[in-house]
Amino acid sequence: MSTSRVSPTSSNTLIKTPKPRIILDCDPGHDDAVAILFAAQHCEVLAITAVSGNVPLKLTQHNARLVTQLLELDLPVHAGASRPITAEALHAEFIHGESGLGGPVLPDLHYPLTSEDAVAHIIKTVREEEDVWLVPVGPLTNIALAFRTAPDIIQKIKGISLMGGGTFGNVTPMAEFNIYADPEAADIVFSSGANIIMCGLDLTHQYMVDTQTIAAIRDIGNIAATFTADLMQFFCDMYEEKFGIHAGPLHDPCAVMAITHPELFVLEPRHVTVELTGTHTRGMTVIDERRTIDAQPSNLTVAQSIDRDKAIDLLIETIKLY
Ligand code: BDR
Ligand code: CA
Repeated sequence: MSTSRVSPTSSNTLIKTPKPRIILDCDPGHDDAVAILFAAQHCEVLAITAVSGNVPLKLTQHNARLVTQLLELDLPVHAGASRPITAEALHAEFIHGESGLGGPVLPDLHYPLTSEDAVAHIIKTVREEEDVWLVPVGPLTNIALAFRTAPDIIQKIKGISLMGGGTFGNVTPMAEFNIYADPEAADIVFSSGANIIMCGLDLTHQYMVDTQTIAAIRDIGNIAATFTADLMQFFCDMYEEKFGIHAGPLHDPCAVMAITHPELFVLEPRHVTVELTGTHTRGMTVIDERRTIDAQPSNLTVAQSIDRDKAIDLLIETIKLY
């Protein structure tokens, strides 16, 4: 697989931009699976690490390997934390199904697990490699444990592009799943001083997959297309049933696209903290939107908007590459 992508410039000259080097930390999960598919084409994926989240770890690591096998990728998959740092484990089978990948007929798994110590692998990789982006699209447990064990890696990474948070919730009125599932981990990451891009629900609910998109994906006709279309059909049906939304927000690929195709996003600096103790607001990301002198200095970058149509076209073109 090539490690650079070609981008057109205004003068129509083609320049080669190096592909971002990433560790994709995930809890597949429908949109996690699409994030793997997208990242494998547009990033140099150093590893996939799995965490407890949408379903228990034994299923998320299984599913990460299954997606890798199905897409015929050659990527190491490591299993990480099987539970949050202090919170009770929380899963989202009500959206992703009992297996975590409801919808497609899933093949038998024969793809190997590289290790059961994702946290140690994250630390080792960041210490040994340059310019590594961490892309967590599940609860932040693995990343927080790595930061707590080896604080030296915080300044060594190129940055973190994460899916989580927002100004509204999907698990509680104010809390998004990835943050609510392990708020203590999220707090460690958000207050670490690392270079962070946050793709929250305000953003990901702009990146909707609808019936028309699913049909266009299915028409591509390759294995990746059929798998993605089956996943998205199930995901959209669940969103319709549970939230009354007639389309599914493709959350997790946004965190990958924000570093591979930043031109599709409006990115703005903000001060964001994680609420740990609120009676009704535990797991909320508190985003300082004030424009007064009292506003706290920004500690991360919030992805505010995405060019939805271009990002859908990009996904479709990416699926054709399989
Ligand atoms: C996030 O929660 C999970 O269900 C999705 O995979 C996504 O990472 C959205 O709140
Ligand atoms: Ca996820």
